[in-house]
Amino acid sequence: MAFTPGTTALRGRILTFLRAPEAPGDRDSYTYIADGLVVVSDGRITAVGEAAALLSTLPVGMSVEHYPDSLILPGFIDTHIHFPQTQVIASYGAQLLDWLEKYTFIAEQRYADHAHAARNARFFLDELARNGTTSAVVYGSVHPGSVQALFHEAEGRGVGLVAGKVMMDRNAPTALTDTAQTSYDHSKALIGAWHGVGRQRYAVTPRFAITSTPGQLEAAGALLREHPGVYMQTHLSENLEEIREVARLYPKARDYLDVYDRFGLLGDRSLFGHCIHLSEREMARMHETASIAVFCPTSNLFIGSGLFDHAALENPARPVRMALATDVGGGTSYSLLQTAGEGYKVLQLRGQSWPALAAFDLMTRGNAAALGLSDDIGQIAPGRYADLVVLDPSSTPAMAHRREAIQGDLEEELFLLMTLGDDRAVRATYIQGRRAHDRDSVVI
Ligand code: GUN
Ligand code: ZN
Repeated sequence: MAFTPGTTALRGRILTFLRAPEAPGDRDSYTYIADGLVVVSDGRITAVGEAAALLSTLPVGMSVEHYPDSLILPGFIDTHIHFPQTQVIASYGAQLLDWLEKYTFIAEQRYADHAHAARNARFFLDELARNGTTSAVVYGSVHPGSVQALFHEAEGRGVGLVAGKVMMDRNAPTALTDTAQTSYDHSKALIGAWHGVGRQRYAVTPRFAITSTPGQLEAAGALLREHPGVYMQTHLSENLEEIREVARLYPKARDYLDVYDRFGLLGDRSLFGHCIHLSEREMARMHETASIAVFCPTSNLFIGSGLFDHAALENPARPVRMALATDVGGGTSYSLLQTAGEGYKVLQLRGQSWPALAAFDLMTRGNAAALGLSDDIGQIAPGRYADLVVLDPSSTPAMAHRREAIQGDLEEELFLLMTLGDDRAVRATYIQGRRAHDRDSVVI
């Protein structure tokens, strides 16, 4: 089934970021149009501006989808999520290494079955759309078929993913392990089949240092060298027991990051999930290599791993690039609104603050920039894919009631959305100008 991009126009309150906001009230960091129009042709944005000026320029007969009180933003981008963990989310009472063994490594074994993977790929992409997420960076299971099923389903829906098969050749059940050689072969075949095909891109995905031998990390490095342009994703410095185990397994490494560095896994397309307990040296090295630290607040709270240190990473002397992500199923919500709200609380506990402008910029433009995909996604501007989310800031009685007191202040409204908003606040989601989710026409 081939996807047909949309040709349409959306009218509403348009918000799109131009650069990272420096502080609350940074009015120059975004464009806001109170009655705006986004014009879409063949899936791409062709014009954006005041509705009053643009409506008369529309081709005769073009439909206008009008959302008078809603905010139209670039679709959210999730930079770290596990496709085979949709039935792991909300698993009780364990810290990272026990959680992996007790729940995750059980659920992921079922992805050897292609029908299971295909069914769950449909659920997974439905759920992203329901939450306003239009692109994601995804971990598959160890089975190449899981990633095949996911890419196939995403391409059929016109959704752009970055995804990869997990590489794991030790410290996991036999049914979930590959070898350095088979992980190399299977990843290479998937890169050939999917990287740059339609909107799909590949990420070489060694799960983390504990489940990869040096030979396998060597293979991951070789894949990156042989295929410039592919991404790399893994986990880094999430949990203290994990860090001790990595030091035991890799005694010659200076620290956790150095394990990956020795095999050539750092760089401007390398995404490191969590990065909670980094040393000064590790942060400086991440800065030097333009590597990306991925903040996964709901996961860090739920698994009890610790509090991300945004201010330390942001140090202007050696700023580390950052992205935001749900990390479902360690994370507890598919919603980037909820994720941002929990991120705010994590930073509160650190004595740091996180303005709503910064959070919304990161969910959209910032995450796109972290992926090097700014020409395609993350902003409402001509040339970009019309991947859009329509947000209803009065989606629950409590939100509508609180909103009465805000009196139209945009930053307060965004803060309300990230604090109380969730999937109910997603009025509609568009992929390449086609409505992929319509809250009010879903029959439950
Ligand atoms: N570290 C290694 N694997 C995982 C995973 O699946 N989830 C999280 N949160 N951390 C990990
Ligand atoms: Zn993860």
